[in-house]
Amino acid sequence: MDRVRLGLVGLGNIGTLHLRNIEHMDVVELAAVCDIIPEKAKAVSERYNCPGYTDSDAMLADHVCDAVLIGTPHYFHTTIGIAAFESGHHVLVEKPISVHKADCERLIAAHEGTDLVFGAMFNQRTDPSYLKIKQLVDDGELGQFLRINWIITTWFRTQAYYDSGGWRATWAGEGGGVLLNQCPHNLDLLQWICGMPTVVHGFCGIGKRHTIEVEDEVTAYMEYPGGCTGVFITTTGEAPGTNRFEIAGDKGKLVYEGGTITLTRNKVPAGEFLRTSPESFARPPTLVETFTFEDQGRQHTGILENFCDAILTGAPLLAPGEEGIHSVELGNAMLYSSLIGRPVPVPIDGAAYESKLRELVAGSSFVKEATERTETDMGKSFG
Ligand SMILES: NC(=O)c1ccc[n+]([C@@H]2O[C@H](COP(=O)([O-])OP(=O)(O)OC[C@H]3O[C@@H](n4cnc5c(N)ncnc54)[C@H](O)[C@@H]3O)[C@@H](O)[C@H]2O)c1
Repeated sequence: MDRVRLGLVGLGNIGTLHLRNIEHMDVVELAAVCDIIPEKAKAVSERYNCPGYTDSDAMLADHVCDAVLIGTPHYFHTTIGIAAFESGHHVLVEKPISVHKADCERLIAAHEGTDLVFGAMFNQRTDPSYLKIKQLVDDGELGQFLRINWIITTWFRTQAYYDSGGWRATWAGEGGGVLLNQCPHNLDLLQWICGMPTVVHGFCGIGKRHTIEVEDEVTAYMEYPGGCTGVFITTTGEAPGTNRFEIAGDKGKLVYEGGTITLTRNKVPAGEFLRTSPESFARPPTLVETFTFEDQGRQHTGILENFCDAILTGAPLLAPGEEGIHSVELGNAMLYSSLIGRPVPVPIDGAAYESKLRELVAGSSFVKEATERTETDMGKSFG
């Protein structure tokens, strides 16, 4: 095999981007497309001269592709992903890999024991700025972490965005808001670079800036092993917004903002300096270095190409699907803590969170005024 035959499921916003990217790629060919909206499936199958399906099970049963890329609303990532593994297909799933931790575990379990490739579309892992931050942290440049802060409020969305799909920003259709849709990228990078916290205390504004029933504003306090604390702030209701990621360590401080990483190294580690300096108000002398990158890397094309290389040549994945559980768990922890009004330990109790989500779905009286209706029944996802 010199090219991966790909079936693309979900032909909406992100599906359309993937279609355009695939046109310019050598390692992949579009072998089939699928969308529950028949007109979309028909139009795209004609445009790309490949079979079009309205039912992903039928596409999988026909074995017209080696791999599937799942770009549907999130609940279907789990059900279609499991069906794809069970029928012997490699899977590249959009972020988040599932809506909640228990569904992530089901999806991961379906992959376990197979020799199939399982990737997740964490395209921001290809951004040279985040790769550099990870490398600096992994190389121990900051020493022991003291404090982590990420303000990521550049995800501004209008009401028209939320009204554009029946599934968006509802408990039944999406299972959450900014933590499930926009922030999986940041939560993935956060855990990829800094590891997982042991405690999360979340404060979420539900429908605070938009007419929606899920969270659109979040402030979360986190505790990490070794005494480090963190704060994660996000919203889709603030403009112009900020993206400032700051990590303070014993050996220095890293700030990423405006596309530039500023690394300030302490010539003497802060913990040692504060014990040994004879002066009351002295600070350790520092050295400052900055890193700026021209672009944001290969993003979606980079992840898709790497996924195909993993199938064709066994290349290691940049974003293994299994790692997608961590960003989901972080987001679930923030929401769960906010809903029950107290801090939660991490790992969270996936069954308890799933049951809370079921309550929210069952108790919802929110009437969605959407301009485009898509499938909203997530029942299969809950088994
Ligand atoms: N990686 C990224 O940068 C990125 C960007 C945008 C969206 N996403 C993810 O992609 C997914 C889709 O988001 P979107 O904005 O494209 O949504 P969308 O509503 O624009 O498109 C979803 C499409 O899936 C179809 N669909 C729904 N249920 C289906 C099913 N069971 N089988 C087949 N098709 C089905 C819908 O008809 C629709 O055409 C979400 O999980 C989202 O988080 C990722």
